[in-house]
Amino acid sequence: MKVLDTDFARSFIRMCNDGWTFGWHESNGGNASYRLRPEEVTEVRSGFRTRSWVRLDTEIPTLAGEFFLITSAGSHFRNIAHDPKRTLGIIEVDRTGTCWRECWGFKDGTHPTSELAAHLINHEVRKAATGGESRVLYHCHPVSLAAMTCVVPHDSAVFTRTLWAQLAECALVCRHGVEVIGWEVPGTIGLAIETAKAMEHTDAVIWPHHGLFVAGVTMDEAFGIAHTVEKAADIFCKARACGMPNVSRITDSDLVSFSRKYDLELARRHVYAKPHLDAPAPEPVIIREPARQEPSMLPLDGIRTNVPGTFRFPVPAPEPEPAPEPASQPGPEPAPAGPLFTMAPAARPEQRSAPDPVGQGLAPAAHPEQRPVPEPAPQPESAPQPVQPVPQPEPAQPVYRFYPKPRKR
Ligand code: 13P
Ligand code: ZN
Repeated sequence: MKVLDTDFARSFIRMCNDGWTFGWHESNGGNASYRLRPEEVTEVRSGFRTRSWVRLDTEIPTLAGEFFLITSAGSHFRNIAHDPKRTLGIIEVDRTGTCWRECWGFKDGTHPTSELAAHLINHEVRKAATGGESRVLYHCHPVSLAAMTCVVPHDSAVFTRTLWAQLAECALVCRHGVEVIGWEVPGTIGLAIETAKAMEHTDAVIWPHHGLFVAGVTMDEAFGIAHTVEKAADIFCKARACGMPNVSRITDSDLVSFSRKYDLELARRHVYAKPHLDAPAPEPVIIREPARQEPSMLPLDGIRTNVPGTFRFPVPAPEPEPAPEPASQPGPEPAPAGPLFTMAPAARPEQRSAPDPVGQGLAPAAHPEQRPVPEPAPQPESAPQPVQPVPQPEPAQPVYRFYPKPRKR
């Protein structure tokens, strides 16, 4: 059978084309790969023409003998459906997991994506994480998610909870949450490795100011995660852009009932300790006031809205003053290691001195490293100075030389 007549190739091309129509693939942005099933390889093998092996500077033993349908470097997703033999290709990994070669497609001298390292390493990680089920990796550049990385702290728990709070479907589809990695230069081994570390826990990794990298058993699953995460990000951006104060979200207790109903194992690292989760989250209170003007145009804290009534946020009871410390008490204890992020009490919008970093009542608590550290006790003059640790050289990173040749312009 011809590659382009197979279900896997058709489905792959449709996924790429859907991403293009959704506006996630400007120019050559994005790439994708699919790990073929043995029976699919058998179906199409007669049409292969193999090229020379290219050595990997790493080993991917769990992918030995596997074949991948993958986008070519510099390919424009808008062209994939029209010119699949140039914009796509199939590669084979050898039996030792140390070399790869092209065996179909890559017409006119194209080569696999510049993110080949990210694809191969992450196929290894996801294959192991899913007992061999995961087959698809998809990377896209959706705009609202990139916009969110400009305004939401790059903390995986805060990012995940902000996304889950926008759209009921998000926790269902993206139940492992998202992992946000640090900025890395596209096409580098650093990006591949950081993504792989994150992919050990989840199937959706955010590359700040760049895009989204998702994994799935099927193309529907991978594309569905990308679509849902971007939709939640879009809701977040639109709700903020409309200029109205945020008065509602999916709360912690909503998430708990949701996960119970659907037997969801939501990523525990992204939700608070159980007692906190079950504690009632601060909800906005709607105080109905007699209509003073047309119900469709009542003021909402200075902003005109078509929602009848006036929204008020509950004001938290003032904290009791702490009892004064006895004079003989030693210096302050270091802050206990707690969750990095705590639920900020909802304040009246006009009382907010600075914008809430998430806009959902989720505010970063001081990181343990940033918390006040007690003054060290004065050392006697003769006390020996602590020995400074000798800085150790960074372990050498493997050098990857299997990148495709420079892109053709
Ligand atoms: P490629 O064209 O090499 O796949 O690169 C696109 C991209 O999005 C890099 O992150
Ligand atoms: Zn990219």
